[in-house]
Amino acid sequence: LKTSEFSHNLLAWYHLNRRPLPWRKTRDPYKIWLSEVMLQQTQVITAIPYFEKFITKYPDIDSLATADEEALLKDWEGLGYYNRIRNFQTAVKEVKEHYGSVVPDDPEAFFKLRGVGPYIGGAVQSIAFNHLIAAVDGNVLRVMSRLDADDRDMTKPSVQKAVKEKVERLIPLEAGDFNQALMELGATICTPRAPKCIMCPVRQHCEAYHENKVSELPVKKKA
Ligand code: ADE
Repeated sequence: LKTSEFSHNLLAWYHLNRRPLPWRKTRDPYKIWLSEVMLQQTQVITAIPYFEKFITKYPDIDSLATADEEALLKDWEGLGYYNRIRNFQTAVKEVKEHYGSVVPDDPEAFFKLRGVGPYIGGAVQSIAFNHLIAAVDGNVLRVMSRLDADDRDMTKPSVQKAVKEKVERLIPLEAGDFNQALMELGATICTPRAPKCIMCPVRQHCEAYHENKVSELPVKKKA
């Protein structure tokens, strides 16, 4: 990949085409974190009303830290994977107690919080604080497998780690926008089926496109 031209084209496309999603209107790290916890296992369209409800009822770290757990679980109903909200409250309590209710602008500290894995950590630290860390979700794995015509098994943790490192070599200074642009490309253009290559801002950088292999990628061996 020709790094700078690729990043430039992708970011230019993102700035013109990004959807006006509610979590993109805020710079508040707590709200960005909440959105990523929801989005990790929930579609954008489903997450929107829950996000609006949560930021109204629990507008900051302290209100979520002190919320009644049963009420929180009730408000989460319909999103599933309840451990997400339980872990989020635990982590938010840690932020209240150890960091004066300020989300750490520090990857090392942030990654130690409950429920913060590579995806959430990379997403929040890049979007809220512009740290140059990748946020690799299923969309990004698909996009990267096609760009490099990479036919390794994308379900393997070792392959995912290699992809994360590859993305980190591509990240320009606008890390949060770059990570969101990759996700947005995967969600809207570089889709699992019937990808819209003709509308893709980076198809000239895409090996799978040139080799006519887009429909064969990504490879996923596990069930
Ligand atoms: N999926 C995960 N994070 C996202 C974000 N910030 N915007 C859109 N889709 C996402």
